[in-house]
Amino acid sequence: MGLLAFILRLVGCFSNVPRRLLISYLIRRGTKLPGGSVFQLLDGTVVKIGSLGYLQREFEATQYARKHTKLPIPRVYDLFTSKDNQVAYLIMEYVPGEMLLRKWRFLSASQKHSIMVQVKDIITEMRSIRPPRSQRWIGSFTGGPFLDFMIGGNDPYGPFDNKTEFNNFRISRFTSMPYCEFPSVRERFASIHREMPNDHDIVFTHGDINLRNILVDFKRDRPDDDVHIVALVDWEQAGWRPAYWEKAKLVFGAQPGSDWSAAVKTWIVEGYENEIAREIELQLIHGGAIY
Ligand SMILES: *[C@@H]1O[C@H](CO)[C@@H](O)[C@H](O)[C@H]1NC(C)=O
Repeated sequence: MGLLAFILRLVGCFSNVPRRLLISYLIRRGTKLPGGSVFQLLDGTVVKIGSLGYLQREFEATQYARKHTKLPIPRVYDLFTSKDNQVAYLIMEYVPGEMLLRKWRFLSASQKHSIMVQVKDIITEMRSIRPPRSQRWIGSFTGGPFLDFMIGGNDPYGPFDNKTEFNNFRISRFTSMPYCEFPSVRERFASIHREMPNDHDIVFTHGDINLRNILVDFKRDRPDDDVHIVALVDWEQAGWRPAYWEKAKLVFGAQPGSDWSAAVKTWIVEGYENEIAREIELQLIHGGAIY
């Protein structure tokens, strides 16, 4: 743990007021990092600022995943809120690396291939994580409601005991819309509902894997293709989802027509073509782009 993370925690043992004053001061003296409200403090520690709902889920999921796997996940040290609970601060480890999005177009074909293989391996390893309880659910990591941009909004949903409940909920969000007064629309939803899969495993899902959330490092004295994923970040949507969900999010998060998009559609996660087609249809009915 960094020195500042330690001091912040120590101060927080006595009272939240000096801790909040200290973190505000440290953020002002810190450096803003690319992507979102993320700052690097003087000792190198990183603080991510956001809503408590999101950061709490990220904190719980990453702590457990770090403990039970060798996945490249930054350590999280602490989480606390502002006085009115409107803002939360997640104190975490700084991992030196570069955002893959910024590097992608400079990579050789073999470097890109190497990254894709690493992402595939990361997803395989995530799927080996077992939940803290024997019965699986669809929800946040610890069994509470979850957040997911593919469902929309900033309100948490669920949790759901099983896939039937989850499918019912998803369809109910559409069938309450005024356009469902048309019989043809109602029929289409009924048929989508019937086709919705019920037989997938429920697996640990990051839910937002894209080129922005992957940090890479290069071994410059090594051959051309030695590029490593050093961190997968932004675990706010992480939790338990049906097995096709990760792929649907990968497809939606990829730049259409790019080589990355082609890889996520065909082999980084294989299969689930019908499930993805159904999600695309739901997004189109819903009003299109979610990103
Ligand atoms: C799914 O969960 C609901 C609500 O808990 C339950 O009534 C139903 O029997 C479950 N279905 C299956 C297939 O387990």
